[in-house]
Amino acid sequence: MKYFVLNNSVEIPSIGLGTFRSESDDAYKATLHALKTGYRHIDTAAAYGNEEAVGRAIRDSGVPREEIFVTTKLWKSELGYMSTKRAFRASLERLGLDYLDLYLIHWPGDHDENKRTWRAFEDLYFEEKIRSIGVSNFSFHHLEHLLEDVEIVPQVNQVETHLYLQNKKLQDFCMANGIHLEAYAPLMSKEVKTLLADETLVAVAEKYHKSPAQTAIRFLVENEIIALPKSVTPGRIEENFAIFDFELAKEDFDALRQLNRGKKIFPDPDNWLV
Ligand SMILES: NC(=O)c1ccc[n+]([C@@H]2O[C@H](COP(=O)([O-])OP(=O)(O)OC[C@H]3O[C@@H](n4cnc5c(N)ncnc54)[C@H](OP(=O)(O)O)[C@@H]3O)[C@@H](O)[C@H]2O)c1
Repeated sequence: MKYFVLNNSVEIPSIGLGTFRSESDDAYKATLHALKTGYRHIDTAAAYGNEEAVGRAIRDSGVPREEIFVTTKLWKSELGYMSTKRAFRASLERLGLDYLDLYLIHWPGDHDENKRTWRAFEDLYFEEKIRSIGVSNFSFHHLEHLLEDVEIVPQVNQVETHLYLQNKKLQDFCMANGIHLEAYAPLMSKEVKTLLADETLVAVAEKYHKSPAQTAIRFLVENEIIALPKSVTPGRIEENFAIFDFELAKEDFDALRQLNRGKKIFPDPDNWLV
């Protein structure tokens, strides 16, 4: 498996198992199966309601804790300094872990809220309760404001990214600031069938005797983006991980690059009120 190195030298596996919409029992089985398959990175969130199940699977897997990269996220209702500290402790307790590998602000609030929240993230980082800290669903202006006075530059920005929404400009901006892009919904989530039937993608996949899903994930990883495909289906969990034995030729990579069309499936953080 390929690892990327974050701006604080922490290594992060280039593929992680997504667990959004995985109910507890499914999340438990999927996490266990993923760890057995070779995944070493699991992405959950307080809002998914499955932290307890994910944590239990991590413990039951027999894989040493230090080999697994665990991410969870602070929900929007908990933004703020003290509320973040409380929510973090609650997440850690539900997970049954004593530290996190990555903690993310799940959705941005207003700029002041983001900054107050970030102070708590930095303090938890300095207390060595979290190995890396980051944000999610942050666009340019959220990052620009946050970066005005941070002690720690976020290690990661997790945003919706797939072949139809490649986020090249946001990735360039993030990279220029040392922030690594993570792709959520790498298979286009509820519209997975549309993506996997794309003619160009199918044709490229056939050339390598790989599936469209593997090719779509491979494209992201070759593009230095961490991919978080979700599945609760054992065969698909295995399929999505088997992407490290081929490399896209430039012409195929370029053909996939052309599929970008700015298609956003999840809400726009600037126009979504919860
Ligand atoms: N930060 C955020 O705001 C945010 C938002 C959304 C997601 N995320 C994270 O990103 C992860 C991935 O996003 P997502 O779950 O929305 O979508 P996704 O990973 O793009 O797609 C998941 C869907 O694709 C199906 N699938 C998976 N592998 C497949 C394969 N090889 N062939 C055919 N179908 C396949 C899954 O079905 P089965 O499960 O039935 O196999 C599921 O319906 C989430 O689970 C979560 O961890 C974060």
